[in-house]
Amino acid sequence: MSLEYNHIPVMLEKVNHILTPYKPGLYIDCTFGGGGYSKKILQSKNTQVLALDRDISVRPLAQKIKSQYEDRFEFSHSKFSNLSEVLDKSSFKNKNPVAVIFDLGLSSFQIDNPERGFSYKLNGKLSMEMGINNLNAEKIINNFSEEYLKNLFQIFGEDKDAKLIAKLIVQKREQELIKTTEDLSKIIMRAKIYKNKKFQKDICAKVFQSIRMVVNQEFSEIFKGLSSAIEKLSIDGKIIVVTFHSIEDRLVKKIFDLLSNTNKNSSRYIPKKSNDTEQILKLDKKKFFIADDSEVKNNSRSRSAKLRYATKHHNFSNNLFNESTVFKKYFDLENLAYAN
Ligand SMILES: C[S@@+](CC[C@H](N)C(=O)[O-])C[C@H]1O[C@@H](n2cnc3c(N)ncnc32)[C@H](O)[C@@H]1O
Repeated sequence: MSLEYNHIPVMLEKVNHILTPYKPGLYIDCTFGGGGYSKKILQSKNTQVLALDRDISVRPLAQKIKSQYEDRFEFSHSKFSNLSEVLDKSSFKNKNPVAVIFDLGLSSFQIDNPERGFSYKLNGKLSMEMGINNLNAEKIINNFSEEYLKNLFQIFGEDKDAKLIAKLIVQKREQELIKTTEDLSKIIMRAKIYKNKKFQKDICAKVFQSIRMVVNQEFSEIFKGLSSAIEKLSIDGKIIVVTFHSIEDRLVKKIFDLLSNTNKNSSRYIPKKSNDTEQILKLDKKKFFIADDSEVKNNSRSRSAKLRYATKHHNFSNNLFNESTVFKKYFDLENLAYAN
């Protein structure tokens, strides 16, 4: 099956609705994937798209789109944490985008490929790398301390059985290396059976999610990517983010609230802005949107999607943010993993 047809874009109609009428100018698709959003935007005349993806496997699809749209489209094999540098080196370098879009997480063709190791439902090697990584799941599971694993499953996975799962992993790896997604799933299941947990089909999901987040430094990626996007966005430009689980959604919500002054306590966590009365972002009255029943019926992946968007009102300097926030424990986990 071709890449193009293997991922159904989530909440595409809502994205389209927010962007309509399409202003002429540059749109940045930070998570190109199967190209669903990029293609939709390019259908409107006078639009240009700069698309990023850290997964090199999407390059052939990007080349196909390039051959159709030529100088209206450019692809960069990059992480969106490098958005500013990517834009500055692109042929659109002097433009401020009219919209920047993040559709977070994984494409279906990444999840469904057992070799990538993202799915606990498919047996494959313990990789979980989206691309441009220095770490993989096998290294974390076989080398990191029991304490680290427990914290990881607790903090990024919010799994109540984190302690026992970490203990069983360490016991198992003392006998032999844990190499496959099936090896890991079996250990998680043992812990759940021991704790008399009812069997649910997503019983391993939280632990897998937590490992994937650290392997790909997803939390800092979102933080840096959103900060750069808001800085680069033109006044009246739109920032749109689709999230798939509560941890990433909480981070997006916090940044949006802070920059729209809707959360009065934010300044406790993030250094004060130069002018605290300035509303950098304006949010939609409805805070977030979810997929409607017919979309969920047609695409089960959209079930957990939440879309938030905002309009930029004032300029924003990225260096006003730092990582010493209420989210410190998440950044610490990622930083520790990469320091090892
Ligand atoms: C949910 S898919 C996007 C699907 C796309 N909107 C579509 O309609 O086909 C997410 C994509 O973002 C990419 N991605 C995730 N995190 C990234 C990051 N930090 N930098 C660049 N690409 C990233 C993944 O490799 C994946 O291909």
